[in-house]
Amino acid sequence: LTTAPPRDLLTLALLKPDLLADPQTVERIVEEIRRTPGLQIVESAQLFWTREQAERFYDEHRGRFFYNRLVDYMTSGPMQALALRGPQAITKWREMMGSTHPVRMRVLNGACLRARYGLTDTRNSFHGSDSPASAARELAFVFGKQTLEELES
Ligand code: TYD
Ligand code: MG
Repeated sequence: LTTAPPRDLLTLALLKPDLLADPQTVERIVEEIRRTPGLQIVESAQLFWTREQAERFYDEHRGRFFYNRLVDYMTSGPMQALALRGPQAITKWREMMGSTHPVRMRVLNGACLRARYGLTDTRNSFHGSDSPASAARELAFVFGKQTLEELES
């Protein structure tokens, strides 16, 4: 009996607009991701969303108290999008970012990216997909591709 080798997972990482104000910051973060064992960058693009795109991307949060503020932030400038692959890419990247609130993360885990770069709960500098289904939807939304085969071709 043979078993297929475990398939890598994919996830969408976004470097949100406040980070793009400084190209060196973006370069430093991308380098840090490149050096991280278990994460590989397979696709990369700069985005500048319309309100309609930001609203659709975050549709699950429509109606929450922070929704308009979030859409304002996500349309305030360009973003850097990365498709990451790795055996545990989704959880690996979410651990590396830290959880949603940068100020809380500065107390709990000062080493995570949101603790180091994030400003407020909304202006938290990073996005990472939260499940394989979200990753597929979000990669298709951003890159028009969602499988390893499509992304690596
Ligand atoms: P969510 O999916 O809960 O967080 P995460 O990005 O960590 O998966 O929320 C999506 C975004 O909505 C979050 O990155 C920033 C914004 N947000 C706020 O501005 N305030 C909040 O209290 C929450 C929960 C989210
Ligand atoms: Mg989320």
